[in-house]
Amino acid sequence: MPDFYSNFHLVVRWLHVIAGITWIGHLYFFNYVNVPLQAALDDATKKAVNPQLMPRALWWFRWGAMITFLAGLTLFVLNYYYTPGVGFGATSLLMETGKLTPRAMWILFGMLLGTIMWYNVWMIIWPAQKRLLTGKVPQPEIPAVRKKAFLASRINTFLSGPMLFGMLAPAHYGAMSGPTFIMAVALGGLAILWAIRSSPNVGKLA
Ligand code: HEM
Repeated sequence: MPDFYSNFHLVVRWLHVIAGITWIGHLYFFNYVNVPLQAALDDATKKAVNPQLMPRALWWFRWGAMITFLAGLTLFVLNYYYTPGVGFGATSLLMETGKLTPRAMWILFGMLLGTIMWYNVWMIIWPAQKRLLTGKVPQPEIPAVRKKAFLASRINTFLSGPMLFGMLAPAHYGAMSGPTFIMAVALGGLAILWAIRSSPNVGKLA
């Protein structure tokens, strides 16, 4: 039976990934499904559907983001800043001969993008959506507030592709070089662009 540290580590990693799926799953639902859906609905249908749909989806979205973020920070400490039996302090996964390891570079890159995304959710998208849903935005300002939330959401969708390379490469790849890094950013971004562009219209779904 593995020790407490190993079991705790596994649970934190699991929590991080299950919350990450919940967050990014909703982000993709908003960008790949809901944006085209809203464009196809008339105002009366939107008034009936959105007050039921949006608060529910936004709840899972923002709390998924929060738990992913907190579990991610805990994972960072467990992997890079704690040694069982020794205590807190930079581990050899973080620094070697006074320099950041390639593994640490990958995760710091992923964490930077993930943190920007978390900020966008909690500081831009959710405050804007909350004001829209509670009718606090004066009519003439509605398009601008909607656009701000939409842009932050689109940026997050694009960041999610490269961010996931930053999450997976540390433990499962390890090496870091300019070309690999550029490939990860390009492939991550292009995959999202392809997904957004191929969101099917209803006619194409049958
Ligand atoms: C929000 C900020 C985030 C932070 C601070 C963060 C932090 C971390 C850390 C420290 C690790 C461990 C890396 C290692 O093994 O060296 C990790 C792994 C991982 N993260 Fe994140 N993460 C964030 C967002 C996300 C998101 C949104 C997802 C989406 C699903 C995600 C999915 C993963 C996955 C799949 C792993 C790999 C687990 C493994 O192979 O052991 N992370 N993350």
